[in-house]
Amino acid sequence: MSNTTNVLILAAGLGTRMKSDQAKVLHKLGGQPLIAHVVRSASVLNPEKIIVVIGHQAEKVEAAARASLPPEMAERLVFVMQTEQRGTGHAVMCAREVLKNARGSLIVSYGDAPLVKADTLRKLIAEHESGQHAATLITIKMEIPPAYGRIIRDSENQFVKIVEDKDCTPEQKQIKEVNPGFYCFDIQTLLPALDRLTTHNAQGEYYLTDVPEILRADGKSVGTVLHDDYMELQGFNNRAEIALGWKKLRGEILQKLMADGVTIVDPDSTYIDVDVEIGRDTTIHPQVIIEGRSHIGSNCEIHSWSHLTNVEIGDNCTVNNSCVLEDSKLTANNTVGPFARLRMHAVLDDSAVVGNFVELKKSKLGRKSKSMHLTYLGDATIGDRVNIGAATVTCNYDGKNKHQTIIEDDVKIGSDTMLVAPVKVGRGAVSGAGSVIIEDVPEDSLVAGVPAKVKKKLK
Ligand code: UD1
Ligand code: CA
Repeated sequence: MSNTTNVLILAAGLGTRMKSDQAKVLHKLGGQPLIAHVVRSASVLNPEKIIVVIGHQAEKVEAAARASLPPEMAERLVFVMQTEQRGTGHAVMCAREVLKNARGSLIVSYGDAPLVKADTLRKLIAEHESGQHAATLITIKMEIPPAYGRIIRDSENQFVKIVEDKDCTPEQKQIKEVNPGFYCFDIQTLLPALDRLTTHNAQGEYYLTDVPEILRADGKSVGTVLHDDYMELQGFNNRAEIALGWKKLRGEILQKLMADGVTIVDPDSTYIDVDVEIGRDTTIHPQVIIEGRSHIGSNCEIHSWSHLTNVEIGDNCTVNNSCVLEDSKLTANNTVGPFARLRMHAVLDDSAVVGNFVELKKSKLGRKSKSMHLTYLGDATIGDRVNIGAATVTCNYDGKNKHQTIIEDDVKIGSDTMLVAPVKVGRGAVSGAGSVIIEDVPEDSLVAGVPAKVKKKLK
């Protein structure tokens, strides 16, 4: 890009058509708030500043925008308050102070249009620069025009103005070319034009969409770029539109994964968020949900009805049917489930196995260790080659505090053992079925009973 570019995103509105207490741009699409998508595609243009006009739930919107970018890019964010929402033109006026010394072009878009691709914005900038326009806008042609501003052209097909849907005459309503709301302005031409906006329109607002007409009246050039993907540029105004947008984005995410070598058995029933990475030759079976910042390695199998959130899964792992894994890690060569639950930084070391109806919370299971059936392991550190018998429970909570259980390498915990924490089971020890362990177990000893007592030394 030859000229300096800045980006301005309008995100101060509540979004009445959402019927929500939450600002529209905070509603999620593919695991990320709308504003995060918008800010991210802007950041790909490498702009000098990304200015966001905020108003409703300003703090939350600001936080969501900041969280969506890596720190060095987040530094370029500038937030401007619009206390009263008096229209999109007024929102731009609120950024006047930030813009007054800026030169070059300004991309303006709306915070409710999350699917735009950086390439589309690049095309807009390219036309703006090559045509040396004062303003350039993207337009879309729709057989049945949506309730968008209509593009009015003269007999020579030259751009004349935008008329908002609510201000259209019945004839203008028939116009198929509409304004999806992506503009490129020369900053120093835009600022004085803002002073000439009025509120003489159906909504009594300052419309940003009146600026191109003002520039034209001054004999300045206004360029247009016709785009063909309506959904990509759609501004979401209600929940049904957001759901359709997610369908489009979801399809794109799955296509990309498949192109990169991931098998998605049934794309129609697979839900994978934007920030999920998956390695080659991994298979995702039908009805799987993978959310948040998740990373899955190569040659894994993720079976049906499993729901994974913020997981790190190494290579050659199998997640069987109906597992719920959150904020947890499978290192490599692990199998879990069916019906396993891992949460709050549960970690399986290489080749550890967790079977059905086993829950791990803030616990680590060492290399080649197994917990196959009906077990709760909470606040536990378990060594290598340990076998945890069916129906074992770490009794980690005394009603007030949580306590740690330590199980060292090569231990065998018998079925139905209760480990009353804090407690430690020494290396090579064995507990008999039904033991209730209330004090530390020495290494290489067999304990049994209620409460468990040492019955014999094993070495
Ligand atoms: C706007 C355009 C319309 C276009 C459509 C495309 C105007 C006047 N109209 O209409 O031509 O076809 O988008 O989606 O621009 N906002 C503020 N402050 C305000 C008002 C709005 O920050 O005072 C923000 C909103 O939070 C929202 C965005 O601007 O993110 C667009 O506002 P919205 O009310 O959705 O505009 P539309 O009626 O959809
Ligand atoms: Ca809108």
